[in-house]
Amino acid sequence: MIRIANLLTILALASATAHAQQDPVALGKKLTTNNCAVCHTFGKGEPNGQGPNLFGIVGKPLASDPSFKYSAGMKAAAAGKVWDDKLLDAWLSDTQSVAPGNAMTYFEGDEARRQKIIAYLRTLH
Ligand code: HEC
Repeated sequence: MIRIANLLTILALASATAHAQQDPVALGKKLTTNNCAVCHTFGKGEPNGQGPNLFGIVGKPLASDPSFKYSAGMKAAAAGKVWDDKLLDAWLSDTQSVAPGNAMTYFEGDEARRQKIIAYLRTLH
């Protein structure tokens, strides 16, 4: 038999989960952990992986982390550009359209998922 206290705990957990599912930033964090963390870190001062650390990426100039060795394609495309929502959306849809010859072998074809990922990246400051 389920005790009332247990039932209340179950209800509280269910409501917390439902809330997390609706929050774009929480969903973006989950998508980012699942899809990007194999190559990128997101915390301040964390080491680079196969790709550069992405803390503070929104508002930062392209290819500007001095501790990361960017590809020639990435450096050539950087000139004066800054990562904003629009450029990140283009990058995540098709990195080659932003920086031909770059070395990131990943794309996200679903616009809603890209928006959630970008919403999470915006919080990393
Ligand atoms: C298979 C590894 C891999 C995955 C997965 C990956 N990336 Fe990357 N990413 C890279 C590499 C490598 C670079 C550097 C590219 C270069 O120098 O040509 C990069 C560069 C970037 C940059 C440019 C950084 C800068 O300093 O200008 C952003 C932004 C970025 N990735 C975001 C993401 C996001 C968000 C995801 C997940 C949705 C993701 N990446 C998934 C490997 C990856």
